[in-house]
Amino acid sequence: MMESLESPVNSRSSYDHLFKLIIVGDSCVGKTSILQRFHGETFLPQSVPTIGIDFRIRTITYQNKIIKLQIWDTSGQEKYDSITTSYYRGALGVLLVYDITSSKSFDSIKTRWIKHINANTRKGVKIILIGNKCDVPTKRVVKSEIAEALAVNHGFKYFETSAKENINLETAFHEMAKDIYNEKCLREESKSVTLAETSGKKRKTNRCCQITINL
Ligand code: GTP
Repeated sequence: MMESLESPVNSRSSYDHLFKLIIVGDSCVGKTSILQRFHGETFLPQSVPTIGIDFRIRTITYQNKIIKLQIWDTSGQEKYDSITTSYYRGALGVLLVYDITSSKSFDSIKTRWIKHINANTRKGVKIILIGNKCDVPTKRVVKSEIAEALAVNHGFKYFETSAKENINLETAFHEMAKDIYNEKCLREESKSVTLAETSGKKRKTNRCCQITINL
């Protein structure tokens, strides 16, 4: 369970883009720990289960743009499903977490979480599969290759992380932001082209990527 540090409502002028992300997965896989670490907080060996939902905000920079990540941490307990599913709305990215030391948490990815995401998010949402707790390789029960195959099969990126040792967390969140940003750019770029075509203009500057398109 976490305390919120900042309101999700922010002045629009302080950032170029706001991306809403959501972290899902079974209870105890380390969702809260991942978010706390990415937010710059200390890892806690004994954390309290999340009650319903909580969030953190972190700002990153990509291609000279300020991107505000509003990251929602959900409870993995089924009794909170009705609360947490409403928070999928508007999410541009999902971090789907299992614990490499728990085969049950990996099985749930297929039997529970992918269905959940498909039922509650818009088409084209970015999904990253995360195998957490890679700092305890002696307790590993889910092979990397199996998880990677599942990710490839569904078109997800795959990372193994450790919230405890702060391994790969920056990479996973930055990859997510990069993918969302690049897709947003492509969409705006094609909109600009269409706009230029319909208005009969010869050149159009894309505001998102700062690319000048010669038509
Ligand atoms: P819910 O809130 O119940 O859904 O759980 P959660 O997925 O948010 O898990 P949480 O972050 O509360 O972590 C559960 C337990 O796993 C805690 O005891 C953490 O200290 C531990 N833990 C989390 N991440 C790691 C990790 O990377 N390595 C190790 N060794 N332990 C971890």
